[in-house]
Amino acid sequence: MTPLPAAAPRVVVLTGAGISAESGVPTFRDSGGLWEGHRVEDVATPEGFAHDPDAVLRFYDARRRAAASALPNAAHRALARLEGALGASVLVVTQNVDDLHERAGSRNLVHMHGELRRALCVACDARPRWSADLADRPPCPVCGQRMLRPDVVWFGEMPYDLDRIENAVVACDVFVSIGTSGAVYPAAGYVALAAAFGARTVELNLVPSDAVVPFDESRAGRATDIVPAWVDEMVGRS
Ligand code: OAD
Repeated sequence: MTPLPAAAPRVVVLTGAGISAESGVPTFRDSGGLWEGHRVEDVATPEGFAHDPDAVLRFYDARRRAAASALPNAAHRALARLEGALGASVLVVTQNVDDLHERAGSRNLVHMHGELRRALCVACDARPRWSADLADRPPCPVCGQRMLRPDVVWFGEMPYDLDRIENAVVACDVFVSIGTSGAVYPAAGYVALAAAFGARTVELNLVPSDAVVPFDESRAGRATDIVPAWVDEMVGRS
């Protein structure tokens, strides 16, 4: 492994739906509280799934296909460039369930709200990579039961990798939040945690969010403009 330069700043980047908006993936709260025309309670809760599993599986099958046909944009690519320049001292924590960060080249990445590209077996807890539909109830490749659901964290469920994320947030020098409304915890609390442990905090968003703890710096604009510009300032143009 290549040793990191001693002076590489530790950077945690929290991303939300706004970074994928210009790739054609709709955000949540810019569309009147509906997600692709569905109430969040119907398609993003365990209760909604228990009530109408077929509808929920079809909903995520449609999201998976839409995400697969979307392309990473200049903001995703800029974050991959940041990691390329600073190495493993950059951690991208995304709330997004699309795979545009990894397709842009980010490797040190946490999907805290899960991934459309994985299934979760309700019978055996396996989380296989998945690109096909789930509504036709395919068997789990590990246990064979036909009880797969999308590996997406629903309201009331525990996000993934919280220990790893919190350890990185308390240790980082720079915390940057991109394209998230800061409405959903625990992600919304990370700016306060980072600030309490001495990080410089930056928000890059279409409009500044109503963060409980204000960011040290807030830049407004489209992600495809302001993220590459910020990365240029961090590591220079390549
Ligand atoms: P939201 O829809 O709540 O917020 C999207 C944010 O992106 C808003 O602050 C917009 O101003 C901003 N935005 C929109 N277009 C943008 C652009 N072109 N450039 C930059 N910013 C832009 O989405 P999230 O904050 O990601 O959780 O939502 C958080 C969580 O709530 C999601 O992960 C999901 C949802 O319910 C679960 O499914 C568990």
